[in-house]
Amino acid sequence: MWQYLGYTARLRRIGPRLEVVLGDITAERVDAIVNAANETLLGGGGVDGAIHRAAGPELLAHCRTLGGCPTGQAKITPGFGLPARWVIHTVGPIWHGGSHGEAELLASCYRDSLARTDEVGATSIAFPAISTGVYGYPVAPATQIAIDAVRSTSTKVELVRFVCFNDEALNAYRAVLGPNP
Ligand code: AR6
Repeated sequence: MWQYLGYTARLRRIGPRLEVVLGDITAERVDAIVNAANETLLGGGGVDGAIHRAAGPELLAHCRTLGGCPTGQAKITPGFGLPARWVIHTVGPIWHGGSHGEAELLASCYRDSLARTDEVGATSIAFPAISTGVYGYPVAPATQIAIDAVRSTSTKVELVRFVCFNDEALNAYRAVLGPNP
């Protein structure tokens, strides 16, 4: 006898594929790369300087029209001379010991960057280790926050690549993600 047993679809959100690489984010061939900027969005050192150099002066001219960006938020521009079509400029928190809302602000950088990426229909994004350079955020907790924030954000992005500039960052990401992220 045929019996209808019913079928309960288990709705599991399939998140983006996560990758970790060692390298220079300005060379990434993804739809969008993320810049660890400051609130002025007018350039600086570290990854910010590298992105502006590689994108060319049009990027700074465009950033001048944006009116800056608050910490924890993100704004989008074209990539100009970069291989990436878009740059998401986000402002990480400066590390003041960890009891000044740093963790929530850092997580917000990742979430808001994915929101900007979704708005333009981009599906691949590369992140640097936001706040872990000049802004002094300790690498291990920053890495955990980055991965947790990406995994807990609803997005249409299919690929998230974490681009590490040194072995310390690379090892931190590998420690959290394991060999098969
Ligand atoms: N590709 C990938 N990662 C990089 C690159 C690169 N080309 N260059 C540096 N990193 P930082 P922050 C790594 O200092 O801590 C700027 O002056 C770096 O090793 O660039 O968020 C802004 O204007 C580190 O792991 O950003 C702000 O004033 C990570 O990127 C301030 O620095 C972030 O280091 C922001 O500080």
